Amino acid sequence: MAKPTRHTLTTPSAHPRGIPKRALPRLAAALFFVTLVGVALPLAVLHRAAVSRHSLEDPWGRYPLPSLAADDEEILRSPQTTRRAPKDSEDLELDRVLQKASMKDNTVILTTLNAAWASPGSVIDLFVDSFRSGVRTSSLLNHLVIIAFDGDAYRQCAKIHHYCFALGTEGVDFSEEKRFLTSGYLEMMWKRLDFLRLVLEKGYSFIFSDADIMWFRNPFPHFYPNGDLQIACDHYVGNATDLRNIANGGFNYVKSNERTIEFYSFWYSSRLRYPGYHDQDVFNAIKHDPYVADIGLEIKFLSTAYFGGFCEPSRDLNKVCTMHANCCIGLRSKIHDLRIMMEDWKNYLSLPPSLKRLLTLSWRVPQNCRYYVQQ
Ligand SMILES: *[C@@H]1O[C@H](CO)[C@@H](O)[C@H](O)[C@H]1NC(C)=O
Repeated sequence: MAKPTRHTLTTPSAHPRGIPKRALPRLAAALFFVTLVGVALPLAVLHRAAVSRHSLEDPWGRYPLPSLAADDEEILRSPQTTRRAPKDSEDLELDRVLQKASMKDNTVILTTLNAAWASPGSVIDLFVDSFRSGVRTSSLLNHLVIIAFDGDAYRQCAKIHHYCFALGTEGVDFSEEKRFLTSGYLEMMWKRLDFLRLVLEKGYSFIFSDADIMWFRNPFPHFYPNGDLQIACDHYVGNATDLRNIANGGFNYVKSNERTIEFYSFWYSSRLRYPGYHDQDVFNAIKHDPYVADIGLEIKFLSTAYFGGFCEPSRDLNKVCTMHANCCIGLRSKIHDLRIMMEDWKNYLSLPPSLKRLLTLSWRVPQNCRYYVQQ
């Protein structure tokens, strides 16, 4: 595999504080989205209902997913898929990039990318832009490693970022837009999970973030000091340890230790018991498994007040850390709504501090992401 070319990061754009010259139109736009809050709330409820109908996942976590038939138990007894191969060049390259990107405490920020999300103006540009325009987030780009699933994604990554890693795809083409729950999509999600286990085994803790999550504020102050695995939610019940929280696998902070390594191995091997489901559904099923308690894994669910998404938005722009374009099917809808969300955020940033505190601002999104339908 070719060594990634190092590119200098462009300087993060400075954000003028105080009242800029163009404050008036921005203020007007802000006030416009304030008035929309009243409309957005009932729609969010409708939206949630639509999601529940179409999702494979049990939205309230009451029912376990159908498990496998007794005949299939054979599969489970086959050897584990842990990698014990001698270090190849890909592995050495991974060590190199993780070492360069990691923080002092061996933490990295990871995202995955395929060609469909990599094209200019697409998801990855918005993702990187959010770090540059967020509050105390631009320096976090020094710790971000973009994991490319195909050659196009890798080449595009190298144009816009320091740390790119091409994950061997072994004949599978992950480059196209993957429709939710197609076999290609599932394969990509499980490959990602297996990769994250490997990163933990190498001794690196990580924040994994889908690239369709905008980073508006530094998330570290909002993590729990004593959680092994902290995970964002599609639906948050108001208690960080309640297993009825519906986790979203798109954003999580995982500390490398024997409990998390064991849990990731267990999670990955559980795909055999739940064929046809993706990692997030399987997480929401196995979080109830007594084995997880036996491991001693401490799971913390992150509040949507700080780590929100289109399923359940972070309502207060004075608090929001991240917003995920979840509960959204189709790349066009996603990009459309992500762009509006970035505009809302930049409008908010341009307001004078007194107005930031005074106004109850909210998002103009979801719009096209409102209906959770396969197109
Ligand atoms: C949060 O949930 C846990 C686990 O269900 C429970 O033990 C605890 O009492 C709950 N805390 C509050 C404040 O409700």
